Amino acid sequence: MIDSPRDLFLKCREYRDSYDARAQGFYPYFRSIEGTRGNHVICGGEEKIMIGSNNYLGLAHDPRVVEAACQATREYGSGCTGSRLLNGSLRIHEELEEALAAFLDREAVLLFSTGFFANQGALSALTEEGDVILCDRENHASIIDGCAFAPAKLIPFRHNAPESLENRLKRVDPAAGRLLAVDGVFSMSGDLVNLPPMVEIAKKHHCRVYVDEAHSLGVLGPNGRGSVHHFGLNKEVDVVMGTFSKSLGSMGGFIAGDGEMIEYLRHRARCLIFTASLAPAVTGGVLKALQIMQEEPERLDALWRNTRKMHEGFLSMGFKIGTTKSPIVPILIGSERGSFQFAQRLFEEGVFATPAIYPAVKYGEAIVRTSYMATHSEEDLNRVLEVFGKLAKELGTFDDPAYANPGRRKNVFDFRLSEQGREAAVRNNPGTNP
Ligand SMILES: Cc1ncc(COP(=O)(O)O)c(C=O)c1O
Repeated sequence: MIDSPRDLFLKCREYRDSYDARAQGFYPYFRSIEGTRGNHVICGGEEKIMIGSNNYLGLAHDPRVVEAACQATREYGSGCTGSRLLNGSLRIHEELEEALAAFLDREAVLLFSTGFFANQGALSALTEEGDVILCDRENHASIIDGCAFAPAKLIPFRHNAPESLENRLKRVDPAAGRLLAVDGVFSMSGDLVNLPPMVEIAKKHHCRVYVDEAHSLGVLGPNGRGSVHHFGLNKEVDVVMGTFSKSLGSMGGFIAGDGEMIEYLRHRARCLIFTASLAPAVTGGVLKALQIMQEEPERLDALWRNTRKMHEGFLSMGFKIGTTKSPIVPILIGSERGSFQFAQRLFEEGVFATPAIYPAVKYGEAIVRTSYMATHSEEDLNRVLEVFGKLAKELGTFDDPAYANPGRRKNVFDFRLSEQGREAAVRNNPGTNP
């Protein structure tokens, strides 16, 4: 007698988290944006100050970038309808690869359709069975998931801790190929990677070095060349990965390195070979954004002026912003529920920012993630600080034990409702539960 098989969709029927947040009136995700000028967006017909975007240099809405995207579409059409390998390789893809290689002082560059794919494609193609990838515990999900696709074993080490990296490396099989993979700027904490000692340790242990510059390109280093250039370690780092979805205002990603490695990836990275290449609009827009980024260094200056203002502003009001060294400013709230409520009230007061909860951050260390742009005005930023100050008082953020003692929470979202609580919440907010 065979039991009936497990219904794969049972988990969907039992899933409650987003319904519970909606029923309590503070669901913060998938907010519909009806219009945008970058630093301001329109939602539900109302203007909000956007402090939840990675458009660091404000290039996504620059008319020259938009025009370049339109021009590329007129020239090449709306899509490539095929992969680079077979039928989707355009001359502007090559131009962008050449421009990036020159900008980063690398032999060669390979474009991918997303930054996520760049990590997945490179990590899985560059490693073999028996190899290891040493990962900072705060690395982005695309590196972690990239490692899951890779034949190599993932070995995590303590966030930004060179001694932890070295302890792990000492225990690796002497014959194993080794790759150290780190973010240049960590996407939730805004921390800057502690790269110099890590590179030194990696070299000592014959370990290749891979840096994800998603949040550091356009933000750090001369003309925004990234964290590797910021530290003067371009010759020591083997692989640089970057995205177009942040400072360059679009989508897509790339891997930069020596010619042999890139030639190998061109023929071995499955998520390059088996997916359509970057759309002409994206490629043309990114090429123009890269040019403007180099010609207008005042954007980088404005980004850092705004970043310093916000670091100082939040600290002077008593907020905990962790150890950020970048335009990503995580505002610690502590409880998941508190972070959702805070983000909801921000939205009602005209400020768009989203909370980040486990697994994006540690349990009980929920934040409202904020990030700043070169194009935010003094008035925008003063208003943001004013609203945060007002809401911290209104919601009692600083008096919450979850704020004073972050991390001491149980392994469940604290906005999850009990059965009775759910019924009552749905009565108050009809239509929010299935
Ligand atoms: C550090 C890091 N790497 C990679 C990615 C993936 O990039 P993309 O959004 O371009 O796919 C992100 C995206 O948020 C990121 O923060």
